[in-house]
Amino acid sequence: MASSQSAKAKPHVLLIPYPAQGHVNPLLRLAKALHTHSFHITLVHTEHNHRRLLRSRGPGAVEEVPGFRVETIPDGLPPADLDATQDIWKLCEATRRTCPGHVREVVERLSRSEGVPPVTCVIADGAMGFVVHVAKELGLPAYLFFTTSACGLLAYLNFDQLVKRGYVPFKDESCFTDGYLDTPVSWITGMIGSVRLRDLPTFIRTTDADDVMVNINIKQCELDAPAADGILLNTFDDLEHTSLAAIRERLPNTITVGPLVSMPSYLPSLTSSLWKEDNVCTSWLDKQPDGSVVYVNFGSITVVSAEQMVEFARGLAGAGSPFLWVVRPDMVRDGSLPEGFVDEVAGRGLMVGWCDQEAVLEHRATGGFLTHCGWNSTLESLRAGMPMVCWPFFAEQVTNCRYACDEWQVGIEMARQAGREEVEAAVRELMGDGAMRRKAAEWKKKADKAVAEGGSSHGNLKRFMQEIARVK
Ligand code: UDX
Repeated sequence: MASSQSAKAKPHVLLIPYPAQGHVNPLLRLAKALHTHSFHITLVHTEHNHRRLLRSRGPGAVEEVPGFRVETIPDGLPPADLDATQDIWKLCEATRRTCPGHVREVVERLSRSEGVPPVTCVIADGAMGFVVHVAKELGLPAYLFFTTSACGLLAYLNFDQLVKRGYVPFKDESCFTDGYLDTPVSWITGMIGSVRLRDLPTFIRTTDADDVMVNINIKQCELDAPAADGILLNTFDDLEHTSLAAIRERLPNTITVGPLVSMPSYLPSLTSSLWKEDNVCTSWLDKQPDGSVVYVNFGSITVVSAEQMVEFARGLAGAGSPFLWVVRPDMVRDGSLPEGFVDEVAGRGLMVGWCDQEAVLEHRATGGFLTHCGWNSTLESLRAGMPMVCWPFFAEQVTNCRYACDEWQVGIEMARQAGREEVEAAVRELMGDGAMRRKAAEWKKKADKAVAEGGSSHGNLKRFMQEIARVK
């Protein structure tokens, strides 16, 4: 082995995010946290995402920083538009098929490289669970980082039961409309009593017994996760202790380390936004009164019809609060907004293509969040003490929405087909509801406590780092 003696002394962690925005962000946050504690880091991006990251950072961004490397591997999909989110379904299949060999090659190459300590530990996204088996073949400890909520992971862990008990696949198409989705599933240990089939990750909404996403999720929970040395979750014990207790029954070494924050001033050249951030947001927010702005953002995957966009615009305008609305270039389903749409929005609110969401949520002018309930957005919102209107789109966003509304009491659910009146009413309630705001402020305190010295996540991260620093 060619590695130098001094370099060898440093534990070297290889982190492999699933190649989508909501996964890359928390993995990079964890990578930075480990790097601050003297771990040598290699972050493995797909070639496609790496190109996007370089583009969104702009010219002149430094690629590599000492002790922090970036490697790239193919994702198995044909070249695609750099402005658009890749097809999540195809990506799941393609990464499972393509990436194991490439991950093995990266680990072996790094172990032969001059001046690089050999890889001592692998942390892969739960959605890249197959990496655990590659790591084990190479004799390395491997951890899976599920970037969902604990309640979301608990739901995925019960997919096998949903199949065994005959809930999934759905008997036929009528199940989507005849009230079947309202079936309670209170038998799931650790879940709140109000959960129905419609609150479980939307991948179960299939009539196909060989459905790819159902099967991949079952595989991740039954084969990959139990083979890992531990499971990392971006959540905190106070928030999700009941779900966590149920998860730990099956996966005892489940480690909560959240909420992870992005540390923008630490390694500033290493950012994770796949779209270029629009920096007019802060100066616009600076001009708005405290707590007055409704922030609207549906994350990185949601697509919305042009008709629905019009309903949102009218509803937001009717509610009367200034709003900051993020509309990704690939967000409108048929590709274009109605004629005159942007002009109509201008003057009532600011519309941008992408923003620094954490900064927006923490800005003094922001008073409420209309969100799709992606886990990162939900947690960032809780951490900022921000109440939410929940408009979930897919995956476990529906589960996060149920918990935000019923358990954490910081959210109002808005119907999928909400028209302008419903949007207006929800936004008015969001901006006026003192009880929800107070509850959100309580969660902020608890989130801050979890990551402060002596807090649960702080202690867990410390123990985790000791655990992986020890292994040789
Ligand atoms: C999806 C799922 O909803 C999520 O629960 C799952 O764990 C990962 O995949 P996504 O649609 O990307 O995620 O939403 P979310 O999980 O909220 O992640 C979006 C991330 O992008 C957040 O960290 C958010 O801060 C960031 N973001 C989003 C920005 O920085 N700027 C934006 O304009 C929009």
